[in-house]
Amino acid sequence: MTDVPDPAMVPSTVRVHGGYTLTGSLEVPGDKSISHRALLVAALAEGVSTLRGLSDGDDVRRTRNAIEAIGAAVEPGHPGLRIVGGRDRLHEAAGALDCGNSGTTMRLVAGVVAAMPWKTVLVGDDSLSRRPMDRIAVPLRMMGATVSGQGTRCLPPIEVIGGALRGITWTPPIASAQVKSAILFAGVCADGETVVHEPVPTRTHTEVLLARAGADVVVEGSAQGRTVRIHRSRLRPIDLDVPGDPSQAAFWVVGATVIAGSEVRVARLHSSPERSGFLEVLSRMGARIEVLRTGEADIVDLVARWSRLRATRVEAAEIPSLDEVPALAVAAAVAEGTTIFSDVGELRVKESDRLAATVAMLQAFGARAQAVGDQLVVEGLGPRAALSGACFDSAGDHRLAMAATIAALAAQGTSTITGFGGVMTSYPGFLDDLSRLAGASAFEPVDHGATTADPVDAEIGAADNRARSARQRERQPGRAPLIAIDGPAGAGKSTVSKAVAQRLGLQRLDTGAMYRAVAWAALERGVDPADAEALGALAASVDVVVGARVTVDGVDVTEAIRSPEVNEVVSTIAANPAVRRALVARQRRWAAQHHGGVVEGRDIGTVVFPEADLKVFLTASPQERARRRGDEAPATIARRDHLDATRAASPLRAAPDAHIIDTTSRTVEDVVDEILSWC
Ligand code: DC
Repeated sequence: MTDVPDPAMVPSTVRVHGGYTLTGSLEVPGDKSISHRALLVAALAEGVSTLRGLSDGDDVRRTRNAIEAIGAAVEPGHPGLRIVGGRDRLHEAAGALDCGNSGTTMRLVAGVVAAMPWKTVLVGDDSLSRRPMDRIAVPLRMMGATVSGQGTRCLPPIEVIGGALRGITWTPPIASAQVKSAILFAGVCADGETVVHEPVPTRTHTEVLLARAGADVVVEGSAQGRTVRIHRSRLRPIDLDVPGDPSQAAFWVVGATVIAGSEVRVARLHSSPERSGFLEVLSRMGARIEVLRTGEADIVDLVARWSRLRATRVEAAEIPSLDEVPALAVAAAVAEGTTIFSDVGELRVKESDRLAATVAMLQAFGARAQAVGDQLVVEGLGPRAALSGACFDSAGDHRLAMAATIAALAAQGTSTITGFGGVMTSYPGFLDDLSRLAGASAFEPVDHGATTADPVDAEIGAADNRARSARQRERQPGRAPLIAIDGPAGAGKSTVSKAVAQRLGLQRLDTGAMYRAVAWAALERGVDPADAEALGALAASVDVVVGARVTVDGVDVTEAIRSPEVNEVVSTIAANPAVRRALVARQRRWAAQHHGGVVEGRDIGTVVFPEADLKVFLTASPQERARRRGDEAPATIARRDHLDATRAASPLRAAPDAHIIDTTSRTVEDVVDEILSWC
């Protein structure tokens, strides 16, 4: 904790280049969970404790500040920290305890001060202020403390008026090590026996450290879960080397597993069944991970190597804190098959709505993911396709920022990750370690000013998070608008979009031509339009350029893509999810490079750019559309329309916020004028 990087040195935005392998060995920061609890045990212990290797993140710093504020002395040790604690030293804090972004600090400190005969106010940042504290408030009230917060869920700031406590028997309704720990910290100062029963066992650091400090604590395991019993105890000081944090190691282990040619050794890592679930999950997926004993109890070295992954089913109970889900989701995104993380609704009340943010991250990188109820469903790309470079706003969530960095390293092209400063929460040296494993040229820190000067970056990455995208776009004065024009064949999209682009001085992209180009390549190379896998691989590898002329791998196909043969197969090919994934990623890159533009297609306003500034959906009567497409048989048009509108992947439909124009009996000028009037 003594050499924490200056927050100003952790950039808010980072560009990460794909194609770099991860090789070498490292130690990750001290385990965050153990660090919080060791500080609190040391504050309660009568005498001088010595703690080495504490997490250097902001969260643990909040706990350290909190124990200082209530009277523990924290002094530099050589090495580590010396904590002078003891209940008689502790006193009412002069002001509110600022827990920042750290839910662990708030919940555990609340448990400690619940037994102290004074008032403590605990406050947090915006994100923490949205996290429910009723889970600790209810049992602490039953023990005799007065705990109040905002609203029915007892949101922060919270006020704890402590005093004489009595033991209770409690089964947390949701598996939570934080709730268990808050009750145990209160229980070690309470009359009688305090019992916490966990149907799903969570990390055991609190009971292990309390036992190490001499507390009267007993753990019983059974088929029904784990039960921890604690009695009032006088604690003695502890001397502790904090091992590496498995949740931070998870990013490098997943990185080494998904990036071809990688091999990473993570040394001196804490190991326990409650913290190693992610290794089990990865092993089931086919990851080659060796766990090497170090001779020290509960401390291992891990060696992870690039592996072919297959999908699995992950039960929340395997990874009770859910901390490793964003990293595992990246592994699932490149695996073959569909991975389901069940019962992970709790992710919604982490530092951010991590369920929605993980889905948005995977989608930004071109993978298919969705939240279905409390499930996270990830359709892996498999070995024939790759993630594509993206822009993603982690909105300050440290685990999302680090998971996105790993996805970016595994992706083709360059990615931009904004909201990166959140890594200060838990892993301030993350970029130093990235540089150690991948080399300094794998990424570039970008300062905040440079971020805002890069117009469409944030927009395209957050394509599935309209609100966030809209905010990003508003921050960029002078950037070009992004106009989406969708509709069926013959509705007038090409003519109208050309005219709109010309009148506004914007570039235009005909995405239909991209699907046609892939269809042409499939016919040319004898790829069966029904062979989904081969088509996906073709779309991911072929070089399609759509401008005044259309080329495929350098061959001019401008006229050839309008042939009856292409008309016949293009809708089938466009219904293929892997083809769509590859082309949507390119369409987003096109808009990023052109800083906006007019983009026409079938799913532009709904899927490709849901945050577009203006969405137009053109229609016309079937007779009129057949007349306009004189070179295409009415039956073929009708069949294409039907396929385009009924396919599962991104079917043709108007976005709810699109302007719908029937062009049947209107002139081009008239339609264009109407569109320009909305600009
Ligand atoms: O616009 P067009 O007729 O040239 O498009 C050719 C085919 O491509 C059309 O049948 C549907 C498909 N397409 C699509 O699925 N998504 C787009 N964004 C654009 C076209």
